[in-house]
Amino acid sequence: MTPYFQDSAVTIYHGSAEEVLPVLEPVDVVLTDPPYSAHVHVKHMVGDSACRDGFAASIARNKSLGFDAITPETMSLVTKQFARLARRWVGVFCNVELVAEWSNSLTGAGLQYVRTGAWVKLNAAPQFTGDRPAPGFECVVLAHPAGKKRWNGGGRQGIWTHAIELNRGGKNKRLHTTQKPLPLMSELVGLFTEPGEVVLDPFGGSGTTARACKDLGRRCILIERQEKYCEVAAKRMGQEVLALTTSNQPPNYGSGVMNYENTINRQINRPVFPQ
Ligand SMILES: C[S@@+](CC[C@H](N)C(=O)[O-])C[C@H]1O[C@@H](n2cnc3c(N)ncnc32)[C@H](O)[C@@H]1O
Repeated sequence: MTPYFQDSAVTIYHGSAEEVLPVLEPVDVVLTDPPYSAHVHVKHMVGDSACRDGFAASIARNKSLGFDAITPETMSLVTKQFARLARRWVGVFCNVELVAEWSNSLTGAGLQYVRTGAWVKLNAAPQFTGDRPAPGFECVVLAHPAGKKRWNGGGRQGIWTHAIELNRGGKNKRLHTTQKPLPLMSELVGLFTEPGEVVLDPFGGSGTTARACKDLGRRCILIERQEKYCEVAAKRMGQEVLALTTSNQPPNYGSGVMNYENTINRQINRPVFPQ
């Protein structure tokens, strides 16, 4: 199969995970962000919100994310391929309502369910209707083939706190409707992979996983069904590597990463027992 893009670190395939995964050779780690469940896609709320006297007034409308929700058929097919391909970790982002489906599917495919981690979204949108709490986190279902497991986080909790990618326009325009923050993906790549390992992301979108891998001295295979996102991802790979490192430390992105480093330090330095 001819890649859409290839350099020394990253290979991008334009196609569906269903057709590309079966022809791939084993990789070290799968780290991916597939479409979420239908209700997330149908009611993607964007709001022109105004809060008056403590009550949220909102004008919310449905907005397509630009790709379909995950189906049981795709989930079943890709988890079988993850079990065939992954030598080590499989990490799958999902909304909390899909955790059981993903863990059952991964287990059914022959992997061991290990843990569900959480991406805590620092600046998540409020609940515009004001009649219930807003969702503030997304999940990462972690599975592994049978046998010894290791990661670079020691006994740390599986909680990763990062701001969502805002659409600031111009040079800082968001590249994808559901783009994951680069500091989040850099933290996960640093925790679950080693320098030189191959990471597979078969729902690649704008290539955030691949960008994190490239910055951290890992290799990455990306699959993406929409050509426009293959192009975005390929362009992103061509951008200057801001701080190439082969360590497990996140690269330095300047001021953007100051928050990230503070977040990490807060997690590492958090006392285990109250003082
Ligand atoms: C949640 S987005 C990933 C966003 C990505 N993490 C980023 O930061 O840009 C999921 C992506 O998977 C793609 N996709 C959906 N179904 C697919 C399939 N069956 N095979 C390959 N790509 C698919 C969509 O086009 C979408 O870009």
